[in-house]
Amino acid sequence: MRTFEIRTEFPAEKCTIFCEKGAFEQQEIPCSFVFTDTNVLALYEKKIRKKFPRTRIFSMDAGEEFKTPQTLFALLKEMTQAGLHRNDTLVCVGGGVVGDIGGLASALYMRGIDCVQVPTTLLAQVDSSVGGKTAVDFEGVKNLVGAFKQPSRVVVDCEFLTTLPAREIRCGIGEIVKHSALNGTLFDRLVANRAKLFDLDFLAEIVPDNLAIKADVVQRDPRETGLRKFLNVGHTTGHALELTGGMLSHGEYVLLGLLYEIEIAKKHLKCDEAYLRVLRNLAVKALGTVPESNAAEAAQLARLDKKNSATDKIVLAVPVAKGTCELLELPFAQYKRELKRIGDTLC
Ligand code: NAD
Ligand code: GLY
Repeated sequence: MRTFEIRTEFPAEKCTIFCEKGAFEQQEIPCSFVFTDTNVLALYEKKIRKKFPRTRIFSMDAGEEFKTPQTLFALLKEMTQAGLHRNDTLVCVGGGVVGDIGGLASALYMRGIDCVQVPTTLLAQVDSSVGGKTAVDFEGVKNLVGAFKQPSRVVVDCEFLTTLPAREIRCGIGEIVKHSALNGTLFDRLVANRAKLFDLDFLAEIVPDNLAIKADVVQRDPRETGLRKFLNVGHTTGHALELTGGMLSHGEYVLLGLLYEIEIAKKHLKCDEAYLRVLRNLAVKALGTVPESNAAEAAQLARLDKKNSATDKIVLAVPVAKGTCELLELPFAQYKRELKRIGDTLC
């Protein structure tokens, strides 16, 4: 069993992360109420009921389109009807959508109850279940309404990954490639094992490395005032492309965003171009094919990003050398020109 701990001083919170095959069954998990989605329930109802007999289960419709205030309030209503108290624990079993909504419900209900994350997608296991960012989408803006609230535990069990569709595996690899832009050791490991990038055994081996990277960043900057901004590599452009309403999913947009941001870094900062070429190849390998994207519209929508809307500039966390990223500030007009230029040459 690999374990990691995040302790933050303000607010004083502690999160323990347990990672091992079979951890869901083996680990003791306090639970008063289970939140999941319809796909996960269809696959794992027996396993969940065996683990938490007599516990109420609420499942949301699966998918990002249901990451809404309506789903959040439906969950809060169910929690109220179940009579949950301040010392009760909400357990979220699912991907990043379930984790983000459940995490927010745990922050709001009675001004905060305990939450345990049991991530069942690769993306949630390496990224979203850890770090306490919770949210729902609102008025067309991704994750606009949310809160920071650390889960008390995260139980990572790679056995859940065996039922995950290939496309969802790709999404998780998107976040793993992102972490590799911050950590040279992980980067070297991915490059050396690129032929195994989609191999579940290899992925299970590197999940703990990703947890260690994420836990370290969150511990040092829980509220994203500095270092944690680097976890947004590929995300600013990825989110903007996502808002154009294309058919890719979150992790795929992160990879596509990374391709754009590598080109922007090369033009505006002193970079190790040989390294960026390898990182780019890794992202393309993870993405499969580079899809067409509406870059001009994306730049416009990037203005809606909660991190950018107060200024006329956009701040990007971009990779520049192995294990090193930098923050780059660009005026919107220039960012828009850049996305258009790169979009014309990317596919
Ligand atoms: P998701 O939760 O929608 O899950 C993807 C699909 O996989 C869903 O259809 C789900 O039902 C299904 N699924 C889940 N577990 C499964 C399993 N074991 N077997 C088969 N199917 C399974 O999406 P996601 O990719 O996990 O998460 C994306 C979300 O995470 C986005 O909303 C994004 O904003 C958020 N996110 C949050 C953070 C954070 O720090 N809080 C970080 C990254 C992403
Ligand atoms: N997924 C980015 C973060 O947790 O900060």
